[in-house]
Amino acid sequence: MGEQIIPVALGPRSYDIVLHPGLLSTVGDRLHAITTSPKIAVVTDRHVANHYLHKTLRSLRKAGYDATEIILPPGERTKTLGTIAKVLDALARHKFERQSLLLALGGGVIGDVTGFAAAIYQRGIPFVQVPTTLVAQVDSSVGGKTGVDHRLGKNLIGAFYQPRAVLIDPLTLRTLPAREWIAGLAEVIKYGIIADEGFFAFLEQEISRLLKLEKEPVLQVIKRSCEIKAEVVAADERESNRRRVLNYGHTIGHALEALSGYRGLIHGEAVGIGLVQEADLACHMGLCGRDVVERIRTLVRRAGLSDHVSPASFSRLWSAMQHDKKVVRGQVVGVWPVKIGEVVIRPIEEQVCAEWFRRMHGRGNRVLSGHRPGSLSGERVSRKGTSQ
Ligand SMILES: NC(=O)c1ccc[n+]([C@@H]2O[C@H](COP(=O)([O-])OP(=O)(O)OC[C@H]3O[C@@H](n4cnc5c(N)ncnc54)[C@H](O)[C@@H]3O)[C@@H](O)[C@H]2O)c1
Ligand SMILES: [Zn+2]
Repeated sequence: MGEQIIPVALGPRSYDIVLHPGLLSTVGDRLHAITTSPKIAVVTDRHVANHYLHKTLRSLRKAGYDATEIILPPGERTKTLGTIAKVLDALARHKFERQSLLLALGGGVIGDVTGFAAAIYQRGIPFVQVPTTLVAQVDSSVGGKTGVDHRLGKNLIGAFYQPRAVLIDPLTLRTLPAREWIAGLAEVIKYGIIADEGFFAFLEQEISRLLKLEKEPVLQVIKRSCEIKAEVVAADERESNRRRVLNYGHTIGHALEALSGYRGLIHGEAVGIGLVQEADLACHMGLCGRDVVERIRTLVRRAGLSDHVSPASFSRLWSAMQHDKKVVRGQVVGVWPVKIGEVVIRPIEEQVCAEWFRRMHGRGNRVLSGHRPGSLSGERVSRKGTSQ
């Protein structure tokens, strides 16, 4: 597969996703179409900087840019208004102007922070996404949701602000820790369930090769995931309706993530559980057959993800589900599969959810099943012998 270009059609805010192994070394040349200003700041985190900052800066300087770097600490705790203040400080100190460019080099944390800083510095300057995690390459870098966390809620502060381009070099995934890679697969499986049975079947067939990071299936996965995300976002940029389908697996997923204090489970691991549990709930509501649930469960487990909840009571789970941003006037609105490749958006009543929970987890109100996060038991994950 040569260079792939996936357009994101958003009228005057349209842009391309470019997917090409080795792209990082030509990133500078690709920016001439986006800005005429010589100033660029590369925003990244320490882990990513160790691997890829030098290469990126070299390409930018070779292309004639005056490039500076802003290196942030890695991890979700960087997603704060305090970090935004620091980034804005650096931009002002370096006399960044309206046409100066920000380049987000990293995972979803870096993309969300950089995009939000770009949205508000001088009321908006251009930015490009150069995602380096699977989550970022298939999800967070596309679609223009930017922002930071607040003490009282994740992603509570932010803006819709589209990048000018998403430049993906899948070779950067070679250095990604296995746990992050597997977590990203949850979002990939999600796309199959919400939009494309053929893609789901492809994942079933190729999961072993994906876990070995083999080049061709990895490229296919990124490409198809980006196409689906681009299509959904183009239909509903600001999430008034259709875009909500992307939240499949996230109603329970986000609740579990919150209940783990954002420490036990990383996002994709919680989403993996959500994919299975929400299908099970959909089956309980009579929306899909048991076969759908089992097909999802099998793929999730083969990917090395967990499929059931860690200890929580129904009341805690329900209350965490209510804190989700998708709650409208106190109603929890979920996304439910009717078959693989097709979902519906419906509210769910507390009583229905409570019944399901009791049926699922026995007499009591507690769930004690579930393997611990981190104790992954899927097909053997090999980081060696990658052909990418
Ligand atoms: N904006 C959106 O639409 C959207 C969608 C999904 C998730 N998100 C956000 O994305 C964030 C999660 O993103 P993430 O999973 O990419 O996490 P992340 O950005 O924290 O990256 C995970 C870890 O991998 C490291 N890393 C990144 N690339 C690497 C590489 N190529 N090699 C080695 N290490 C590397 C990072 O330093 C970090 O330690 C969350 O804050 C979530 O809210 C946003
Ligand atoms: Zn997600």
